[in-house]
Amino acid sequence: MHRRRCLGSVGLSVLTTMLLGSFWGCQESKSPKKPSPPTTKQSTEPKSVEAPTEEKTEPKPEVKPEPKPEAKPEPKPESQAATPASEVKVPLGLPPLPTAADNPMTAEKIELGKLLYFDARVSKDGKISCATCHDPKMAWAEHTPASKGFGGHVGQRNSPTVINAAYATSQFWDGRAKTLEEQSVGPVGNPIEMGHSMAAVVEQFNKIPEYQTRFQKVFGTGVTEEGFAKAVAAFERTVLSGNSPYDKFKAGDEKALTDAQKKGMDLFMEDCNTCHKAPLFSNYLFYSAGVGMKKEKPDEGRKVVTGKDRDRGKFRAPPLREVANTAPYFHDGSAATLEDAVALMMAGGADDPDVSPMLKGLREEKFAPEDRKNVVEFLKALSGEYPIIEPPKLP
Ligand code: HEC
Ligand code: HEC
Repeated sequence: MHRRRCLGSVGLSVLTTMLLGSFWGCQESKSPKKPSPPTTKQSTEPKSVEAPTEEKTEPKPEVKPEPKPEAKPEPKPESQAATPASEVKVPLGLPPLPTAADNPMTAEKIELGKLLYFDARVSKDGKISCATCHDPKMAWAEHTPASKGFGGHVGQRNSPTVINAAYATSQFWDGRAKTLEEQSVGPVGNPIEMGHSMAAVVEQFNKIPEYQTRFQKVFGTGVTEEGFAKAVAAFERTVLSGNSPYDKFKAGDEKALTDAQKKGMDLFMEDCNTCHKAPLFSNYLFYSAGVGMKKEKPDEGRKVVTGKDRDRGKFRAPPLREVANTAPYFHDGSAATLEDAVALMMAGGADDPDVSPMLKGLREEKFAPEDRKNVVEFLKALSGEYPIIEPPKLP
């Protein structure tokens, strides 16, 4: 069981320096590059709304029991197999980094995860890596409505960003994976994504001497599915975005936001923050916005996981950090621009009877075009600094 635990947010460490090298040096330079002191300060929203949450009408999501990759005992305690890197730099504005108790972050493990993340040999045709659909240069997402995977198969869903996925209490639009460990082996065997099988990848990678050595060093075993999952997850937990104009404003820099952004922020905190809850801009719960429900075969979203009719068309409220850089929007990529996505949300969702009451409530508000513009401007202030990692030299 991956118990969540927090690594304090402490200063720049061995980890970042050693491994990610230019990790903080090669980030987006939309905002000044001055390294700002990491902080654990709790943000208090200017207009914090204690609006009734959807949880009342919609009981806590249940997650189908799924096979746990961590069920097998570790052959050798990892702490003896690798150098611990107990400090990860968490950028300004983000909470302490949650991590899995049985998957400690170590410099070697993160480096291994990075190699696997960029290695296209995990796909059957050797052409698709995790980075194909979650491209660091596209804010760790992809600018197409639905991803083209193995053999040109197009999936149904828009590729979400990996940024800040470390904080999510479930993974995927429908929350069907609990942890990043569980999530990371999914795409490999998916016929639409990578068209391969983990067994084949394990066999193939065991023949690559450098992977052999690296897995031995980190896990004390050859290449295994469990090790793959853990290394990739550890790497993903380093992909964070914070230190945005919004965070600087919260930290006391009044000038970090424009007037339009401040107006947009007030409106957002009033009407959007319940689901897109700061500081990660999601509460990670499931709601229907009615998106795509008029299609001939609508994506049933959360219902596929729980089997419950009341979950039909519900999707996890997407976290909105870096949202200005992750077009197109919604689970089906049906909104091409941020303006379109915001317009639909502020109109109280699409025309569908199952839309969440909290979104429907917005229909009464009759927002002016100016309001929509201000909210879009505010969302742009959630673009901060995130690592853009170049594809490494593979073993
Ligand atoms: C062909 C494109 C494609 C490839 C390759 C791919 N993904 Fe994804 N990824 C997606 C799509 C699409 C989703 C959303 C699927 C869903 O919600 O059902 C997703 C979801 C995720 C999520 C969940 C994020 C969230 O916010 O819920 C993570 C994390 C992730 N992928 C990591 C990876 C890793 C690691 C790999 C490589 C082992 C990988 N992906 C390979 C397309 C891809
Ligand atoms: C009841 C909860 C809820 C409220 C309130 C809400 N949203 Fe959403 N939001 C969602 C869900 C769920 C989705 C994903 C819908 C889908 O893909 O089917 C979403 C999607 C979005 C997206 C697209 C993000 C992406 O990565 O695809 C944006 C932008 C957005 N909302 C902004 C807003 C704004 C602005 C407000 C306030 C006016 C707001 N939302 C209010 C639940 C909510």
